[in-house]
Amino acid sequence: MSAQIIDGKAFAANLKQDIAKQVAILKEKHNITPGLAVVIVGEDPASQIYVRNKNKSTVEAGMNSFEHVLPEDTSEADLLALVEQLNNDPAINGILVQLPLPKHINESAVIDAINPAKDVDGFHVINSGLLATGGDAIVPCTPLGCLLMLRDRLGDMSGLDAVVVGRSNIVGKPMAQLLLNENCTVTIAHSRTRDLPGVVGRADIVVAAVGRAELVKGDWIKQGATVIDVGINRIATDDGKSRIVGDVEFAAAAERAGAITPVPGGVGPMTIACLLKNTVTATCRQAG
Ligand code: GUN
Repeated sequence: MSAQIIDGKAFAANLKQDIAKQVAILKEKHNITPGLAVVIVGEDPASQIYVRNKNKSTVEAGMNSFEHVLPEDTSEADLLALVEQLNNDPAINGILVQLPLPKHINESAVIDAINPAKDVDGFHVINSGLLATGGDAIVPCTPLGCLLMLRDRLGDMSGLDAVVVGRSNIVGKPMAQLLLNENCTVTIAHSRTRDLPGVVGRADIVVAAVGRAELVKGDWIKQGATVIDVGINRIATDDGKSRIVGDVEFAAAAERAGAITPVPGGVGPMTIACLLKNTVTATCRQAG
């Protein structure tokens, strides 16, 4: 293995320390304690784990965490009413509605009901529009975490060829926008892309966010490329158990890449650290 392993866990731990210091200053100098509300509807086990981790990290950073656990059969009207209540609550600086929502609830209606200034996920159309037009957006947490690790590894990314595999609103599209803002030449690849190995093979930066276990093969990777793996996929193993793998074939990719994030321990921890960062940013902006 020749690649440097990008330690997202250590990176996130440093970032969380910085955030805790900023929170302490906000408390001491301005008498403000940032408050984050997390709303979860239903009992999706993965979502429950995420929400538990988010609450724990929020409290560890010195912020107030408000958890709203609603039953699976909550109506869209009731969820919108809760969002409106949180929008109007001065103790709440950030609102996160955990996705996916149950099928009977219109996700975009709920996201767009959140006050964009409190939208710490950065999913509101105002924030995606600001990101696309170079404004002061709140940037979605996972792509923001990827960007911070890329900047740390590469510094100036001007002129580099970057490929984002995946075109979701949560990761792929905002990631492409962030790389464009860094002056990369950006390609967004997806399930209909004709020559995925060729497209990936030309890239200095590969961000894989498709949610398909080991879709990106190690021998596609250009020598020395930086590889960021957003995937978290559980696969069955021969002994009847299971393990977590990313969207990239890690061991083979690490033979060719200059640097690569592992799964787990790469992008995952950065997402929560960036949620805390966005909550502090939102709090400061709201305070003027
Ligand atoms: N579900 C999976 N990832 C996320 C995320 O980053 N934000 C929200 N709100 N829901 C998610």
